[in-house]
Amino acid sequence: MKKNRREFLSNSLALGLAPMLIDSPFRQFAMTEKSKKSLKILILGGTSFLGPHQIAYALERGHQVSIFTRGKTVPKIHTKLFDKVEKLVGDRENNLESLKKRTWDVVIDNSGRKTKWTEETAKLLVDNVDLYLYTSSISVYFPFHGADFSEKRKLVTIMPKNADPSDIPTYEYGIMKANSEIATINSFGINRSIIVRPTLIVGPGDRTDRFPYWLTRIEKGGDVIIPGSRNEVVQYIDVRDLAEWMIRLLENKITGTFNGSGPGFSMTTNAFVHGIHASFNSPINYIQIDDINFLRKNQLTGIQPWVIQLPKYKGMSKTENNKAIAAGLNFRPLSETVQATRKWWYSNAVSDDRRSNILYGTKSFMNKEQGIISQWNDFKK
Ligand SMILES: NC(=O)c1ccc[n+]([C@@H]2O[C@H](COP(=O)([O-])OP(=O)(O)OC[C@H]3O[C@@H](n4cnc5c(N)ncnc54)[C@H](OP(=O)(O)O)[C@@H]3O)[C@@H](O)[C@H]2O)c1
Repeated sequence: MKKNRREFLSNSLALGLAPMLIDSPFRQFAMTEKSKKSLKILILGGTSFLGPHQIAYALERGHQVSIFTRGKTVPKIHTKLFDKVEKLVGDRENNLESLKKRTWDVVIDNSGRKTKWTEETAKLLVDNVDLYLYTSSISVYFPFHGADFSEKRKLVTIMPKNADPSDIPTYEYGIMKANSEIATINSFGINRSIIVRPTLIVGPGDRTDRFPYWLTRIEKGGDVIIPGSRNEVVQYIDVRDLAEWMIRLLENKITGTFNGSGPGFSMTTNAFVHGIHASFNSPINYIQIDDINFLRKNQLTGIQPWVIQLPKYKGMSKTENNKAIAAGLNFRPLSETVQATRKWWYSNAVSDDRRSNILYGTKSFMNKEQGIISQWNDFKK
């Protein structure tokens, strides 16, 4: 079987059919084969959410992986694979000793939380590594006004003088990411730099409760508040799709700047909610609340991954992904993301406290939901 598929692939390529593989079932096969060349990969980071998935795929493809961390964060997913990874200890703030006089083929900078950190590692590694992949964020597009969320959009790189104080943390993060992208390119040059700007990352190993909240909520069923219009667009990226694509970009030396957002079509809130619910089938009644003033008053404007209704966040779910798709990003179905996330959520990797807090904790939105629904019913009268 394998041989036949391989033959199909090489025949397809010979016939110039490569673009057809993008949507072909054979594409998946092509991606899980070992890479032609084994790479020495350095990951700055590696032990939180995205890193472990990059490691899993890289090892599966026959690469060697070193990670650089402070040794504080304990991996919660793919834990057994860490025996096969070289662990370098240091601190991006003030100790890069273990990275000196070493060579790798490529580096992935996941842990860049200060521009200075990326400037320093890029300078240190520029002669000892071929390619530098910087994990940025779609937050570089903040504030999300307007309609152009392609990679060509001009970025904010200094804090606007008139910034609203409540926006400053979001600006700071986006500006730090934008300047770190520039620092990467300044050292490695455009032909040796890869910049990936992920949207909201979801999937097994998530350290936030954003996506797990909605899985748990929809599985529980009953009256569920859905903020915003049914036809708003939803974007997210499964951590595995993102991690695997990043490794393939490095294997194929595909440089440039890419939005890492999915899915591959314009998914509405309605499709998203029903897509999640298809895995559960619990009795459910959606209460769609689309009045912006009511949402604001009840602090329902920031419930992700639904689009955030405030104008400066509206474009957050409208990032273009054509360039990334052309460079090999593909998307597993929502049902696979839901099922894998749920399996992990109910495994030993997640504490009972974390699981129960989502449902019953004092900060749980579920505790407020019935009260808000009553107010909404009064508001509509
Ligand atoms: N989650 C999202 O939805 C989202 C969306 C867009 C972009 N992003 C970006 O995606 C990236 C992925 O993050 P991740 O946390 O999942 O990556 P990761 O590679 O799995 O882990 C990050 C690592 O950084 C290490 N680290 C933290 N401070 C350090 C320091 N001072 N020196 C050395 N190492 C340090 C941590 O280990 P120690 O604690 O042991 O040092 C941890 O291993 C981030 O750049 C984030 O901004 C995330």
